[in-house]
Amino acid sequence: MPRLQEIPCSNFITLLSPNLHAHMAKISIDPDIRKAQTLPAAFYREKAWFDLTRDKIFRHFWHYVADTTAIETPQSLYPFTLLPGVLDEPLVLSKDIAGQGYCLSNVCTHRGKILVEAPANRRLISCNYHGRCFNLDGTFKSMPEFAGVENFPSARDHLAQIPMEEWLGMYFVSPNPTQTFGDMMAPIMERVGWMPLHTLRFDPESSRDFLVQSNWALYCDNYLEGFHIPFVHPALNQAIVFDQYEYHLFSHGNLQVGEAKAGEPSFDIPEGYPDFGRNIYAYYFWVFPNLMFNFYPWGLSLNVVEPLNHKQTRVRFRTYVFEGTAFAREKNSIDETELEDEAVVESVQQGIQSDFYDRGRYSPSMEQGVHHFHRLLSEYLN
Ligand code: FES
Ligand SMILES: [Fe+2]
Repeated sequence: MPRLQEIPCSNFITLLSPNLHAHMAKISIDPDIRKAQTLPAAFYREKAWFDLTRDKIFRHFWHYVADTTAIETPQSLYPFTLLPGVLDEPLVLSKDIAGQGYCLSNVCTHRGKILVEAPANRRLISCNYHGRCFNLDGTFKSMPEFAGVENFPSARDHLAQIPMEEWLGMYFVSPNPTQTFGDMMAPIMERVGWMPLHTLRFDPESSRDFLVQSNWALYCDNYLEGFHIPFVHPALNQAIVFDQYEYHLFSHGNLQVGEAKAGEPSFDIPEGYPDFGRNIYAYYFWVFPNLMFNFYPWGLSLNVVEPLNHKQTRVRFRTYVFEGTAFAREKNSIDETELEDEAVVESVQQGIQSDFYDRGRYSPSMEQGVHHFHRLLSEYLN
C-alpha cells in the first residue's frame, strides 16, 4: 500500500473516488437535433453534477429575489438568502434616502455576523455583535475600539454590492453575471413590449409555491416542450391549437407561443407588432437557467424554479395581473396544469434512476426548446 504522498495526482483522484472521473466526463449535446442525444441520466441523478451546476451556472446567472415593494420606502432593508440550501448567500436589499436601491452582502466585514435579521427601516446598517456601522449603500461608516488599526478602513471593510436590476417591478440579482440582464430580457420586450406591463400588480391570492420531488432540470425540460400537452393536459389541449404551437430560440432563452382555439381568450395585438392578426393564447418565455415568464391576456405568471438539492425543487408561482383585467378562466386552471406537470416530472425522476435508462433522443419538431436548454447546460458545464 503506497503512502499518500507517493501517489501521483491522477491516481490519487482515481483512488479517492473511482467513479468521480467517469461521472464528470464532459456532457456533449450534438448541435444537430436530428443526431443529438438528451442529457445523460447521471446529470439529473448525481450530486456531483448538481454541485458543478451551482458553481458554473447558478452563481453566474440572474435570480428573481423580490418585488420592488419589498423596499418601497427610503431607508428600507429587506434581508434574504439567495437560493437557500444551494448558494445559501445572505444578502440584503436596501434603499437609501435618495431612493436608490442596492443589493448588499448581509455579512459583517468584521467577524462575519449576519447584519439584518428581518425587514426594517433604518438610517444605517449596524452590527449588533461589536457595533460596526455601514451606510445604506454598503460603505463602511464607523467601528468602535479600532483606533490605531493600520490601513483601516480599507475597501475590504465595505459590504460587497451585488449586481441588481429592476424589471417590471421586480428585482433580479446575480453574484457574478456572465451575461447582462438587458441582453437576457431583450427578446421578451421585443415580443410583448406593447402590453401594459407597467400596470402589472402582484396578486397574492393566486400565487403559491410548489414542492416538486425532482431535479430542477427535469422540471425545466418538461416546461420547454408542448409535445406533452395532448397527453398530459386535457383541459389546456381544448384551449390551444396544437398544430400551430411554435418555438423561437434566443441566445439564453426561448419562447413557446400557443394559439387560442375559437372562443378561447386571446390577446388583442396592436397593428405593427409581431403576431398582429393572430389569436395568441399565451407566450411562454424561459430565461436560462430557471426563470419562466408566462404572459396571458390577464397578466403574467412568473415561475421561479429553485433547486433545493439535486432531487428536490421548489417552484414559486407568482401571479401579476394587468390593471383593469378581470381574472380569466385559464388563470384558475394554472393549478390544475401545474399538478399534471408535477406528476409526470416526478415520474421521470423515478425513471431516470433506472439502470436501463441513460439518454434519449429529441423530436426535431417539438423538442427544440429542450435541446436548446441541454446545449446551454453543456456549454457552461464543460
Ligand atoms: S462581527 Fe460585526 S462588529 Fe463584529
Ligand atoms: Fe405541461
